[in-house]
Amino acid sequence: MTTPYTPPSPDEKEAYVRELFDRIARDYDAVNRVMSAGQWERWHRTFVELTAFRPGACVLDVACGTGDLSLLAAAQVGRDGRVIGIDLSEGMLEVGRARVAAGPYRDTVTLQQGNAMALAFEDASFDGATMGWAMRNVASIPKTLSEIFRVLKPGGRFVCLEASRPESRIVRQGFFLYWKTLLPLIDRVFLKTGEAKVRPYTYLSRSLDHYPTARELVRMFGEAGFAVTGYETLMMGTVAIHHGQKRGA
Ligand SMILES: C[S@@+](CC[C@H](N)C(=O)[O-])C[C@H]1O[C@@H](n2cnc3c(N)ncnc32)[C@H](O)[C@@H]1O
Repeated sequence: MTTPYTPPSPDEKEAYVRELFDRIARDYDAVNRVMSAGQWERWHRTFVELTAFRPGACVLDVACGTGDLSLLAAAQVGRDGRVIGIDLSEGMLEVGRARVAAGPYRDTVTLQQGNAMALAFEDASFDGATMGWAMRNVASIPKTLSEIFRVLKPGGRFVCLEASRPESRIVRQGFFLYWKTLLPLIDRVFLKTGEAKVRPYTYLSRSLDHYPTARELVRMFGEAGFAVTGYETLMMGTVAIHHGQKRGA
């Protein structure tokens, strides 16, 4: 019998999430590709179309993990541009730094430890910002959005890729059946963490429970100051890409 799962409280969330991602960092990229049923590259192609960063731009990848989106941004901004990825988890960053060092963007991308809710950058430092699969994991979405807004230059664009709660009840039920049944099995069968306090895939399977709907997230973008906000959904509404721009140039 597995111990009932209790999600971390907002106060515990940061430490919990850091420990969780440190623990799964080595297998993170491979598991994602399997779990997305081959859609990972497709979602990222759509994401890149929406970011459309210009050559020479300076981009912040918030909660960069192992650097997937940092590398996609680097391919857009090129060698004259700059990408800084920040993340809480040193384990994820370590895997990311090895990937960056082995590729053509080692002089463009820097991955460093940092907190999305307290960004260590001056106001108006970046032309653009990205965040992938991480908004669910921060303890405060409003704080994170207002920090990203603060560090963007006027005219800067923020694009956020994340899982989403589908609006159709039928799709939602099917999706949650997959999400809430299969993911916790990874903990029990592969990680053997059935009784542990930090159960990575059980946590991830529950992480959409209190996450805003795609429309609510648009409203939160607006409250943080973003103008021209909107979103696209993919995979029957189970994935959403939100975008917003800081008014200005
Ligand atoms: C699911 S991973 C996504 C990683 C990467 N963006 C990607 O597209 O694969 C979520 C990441 O968010 C990071 N994270 C969660 N809360 C954070 C915070 N407050 N500040 C910085 N990173 C955070 C975690 O450490 C983890 O690496």
